[in-house]
Amino acid sequence: MPLNSTILPPRRHKRALKAFDASMKKLGLDYLDLYLIHQPYGDIYGAWRAMSRLKKEGRIRSIGVSNFYADRIVDLCENSGVIPAVNQLECHPFFQREALKRVLDGYGVAFESWASFAEGKNNIFKNAVLSSIGEKYGKSSAQVILRWLIQRDIIVIPKSVKIERMKQNFDIFDFALAPDDMAAIAALDTGKTLFFDHADPERVKWLVNWMKHNAPKQ
Ligand SMILES: NC(=O)c1ccc[n+]([C@@H]2O[C@H](COP(=O)([O-])OP(=O)(O)OC[C@H]3O[C@@H](n4cnc5c(N)ncnc54)[C@H](OP(=O)(O)O)[C@@H]3O)[C@@H](O)[C@H]2O)c1
Repeated sequence: MPLNSTILPPRRHKRALKAFDASMKKLGLDYLDLYLIHQPYGDIYGAWRAMSRLKKEGRIRSIGVSNFYADRIVDLCENSGVIPAVNQLECHPFFQREALKRVLDGYGVAFESWASFAEGKNNIFKNAVLSSIGEKYGKSSAQVILRWLIQRDIIVIPKSVKIERMKQNFDIFDFALAPDDMAAIAALDTGKTLFFDHADPERVKWLVNWMKHNAPKQ
């Protein structure tokens, strides 16, 4: 069914347009490269319609989503007719999401990883498999992780407040992991989130209520 304003409440649509204007004012920019829906809850279709309009008007170059699991991304792609450029998701060696990646590939949605380093959890920078692979190439565990993601065609947005680490995180284009190294990292997958299960009813209820009470006043 095509996206149709008669079946959608206008509330989130208007709020998204207002929120965009407010953000642009604060940023002092004429257009944005990429604008995302952060969580797959509430009137996402109203927000998506607003974002599609902003894209058409040239005020945003690409629009995307975040934390949309397979069911949500299929629903959005099939119903809206506007395919997200990106889905930003938790992805690191302990939660690799290969099945979800295949669904995104099927729609041409780019997979972008948040928590590429699991935000440091599970002692990831000292992991024996990652460290020994790094030693082979003269790279750190962090660089091995980023390279592994890029070789899976996953976009990375590692976060660091340290200049040296930022430089290190860019310095990953002069080597390639061999297939047996890729396989060794694949074996680290637990298939479980380290942060938030967007399919767990109790966690979803908590987040939806948090969002209701913490939405910016407009
Ligand atoms: N869409 C969502 O729901 C969502 C959720 C969470 C995060 N995000 C976004 O995802 C991006 C990634 O950040 P993240 O918070 O998920 O964390 P992350 O990239 O997994 O990890 C960041 C941690 O790794 C450390 N680090 C960075 N580079 C390193 C290196 N080369 N060697 C050793 N340690 C290193 C950083 O410490 P230092 O800063 O001290 O270097 C920081 O503690 C951010 O832009 C964030 O806003 C999105």
